[in-house]
Amino acid sequence: MRAAMADAPVGDDVYGDDPTVNRLQRVVAERFGFETSLFFPSGTQSNLAALMAHCGRGDEYIVGQDAHTYKYEQGGAAVLASIQPQPLEHEPHGGIAVERIAAAIKPDDLHFARTRLLALENTMGGRVLPISYLHDVTNFAHAHGLCTHLDGARVFNAIVKLDLDPRTAVAGFDSVSVCLSKGLGAPAGSVLLGSHEVIAAARRWRKALGGGMRQAGILAAAGLYALEHNVERLTEDHANAAFLAEGLRDLGLQVEPPQTNILYVDIPVRHVQALTEHLLQRGIRASITPRTRLVTHLDVSRAEIDAALEAFREYPDWS
Ligand SMILES: Cc1ncc(COP(=O)(O)O)c(C=O)c1O
Repeated sequence: MRAAMADAPVGDDVYGDDPTVNRLQRVVAERFGFETSLFFPSGTQSNLAALMAHCGRGDEYIVGQDAHTYKYEQGGAAVLASIQPQPLEHEPHGGIAVERIAAAIKPDDLHFARTRLLALENTMGGRVLPISYLHDVTNFAHAHGLCTHLDGARVFNAIVKLDLDPRTAVAGFDSVSVCLSKGLGAPAGSVLLGSHEVIAAARRWRKALGGGMRQAGILAAAGLYALEHNVERLTEDHANAAFLAEGLRDLGLQVEPPQTNILYVDIPVRHVQALTEHLLQRGIRASITPRTRLVTHLDVSRAEIDAALEAFREYPDWS
């Protein structure tokens, strides 16, 4: 990946002149069956620019309570774009029930914000949203005049898990944000997919949000390398997550079985502090909480997972 970055031909991407960025945008758009796409430094910015492309000031987007765009991006849609979020409870599969969405769409009345967009996330906390659900919910949204956005930061985990054609995985969405960092291992970068119209609007917002980069081909080359070399191997991360879950379950801990590369383990509150310190003494820095999230990725080997499990096993007393 480093060699590909060093060798990348570059230009000024603010003017659309970087050949490697342009190649990445073509490759990703083609792979997912979209008209076009746009390279961003981060998933946060790509999601926000998409929301801004679909919604204006005083518009509303429907989103899950635990969705990244709502909960983990400092409320950027509200803070920076004057878009009101309408957060709703998730279903066990990670989506939002169609009936719940139906009840949340505001009538055309000057008391209300205008409901414009449905935003979903796949995978959602490591869960893969069922394709039949995505089909139904995006049809429903469009029939009710809403646009649809997918935060596909980990959409490749869903694709690999269900052995899907990428086009099938994102069918029904008007825009999709795909991350090249995280599981795919690029140092930075996300790609927003959409129509020419949506991407033209997102390109304007990207500049306003400070995401116009110049010789960005260096980063795009890392993304192209990641797409070529690091997608199929996501199955290893999934297998490692299952292995980790099994090891923790053997210790008597409550573990939510992972579908992909994310698992949740319940740590009794009385052990949170002591376990954090115990792991730290063994060189493992972990954000232990009562519901601890563990994520596997290409920089975590089976041997390192074994070492982490050994440290959990050495914890003196789980009673
Ligand atoms: C589901 C999801 N969406 C978006 C993001 C934001 O991506 P970034 O950290 O590149 O801004 C993350 C980051 O972890 C994420 O998990």
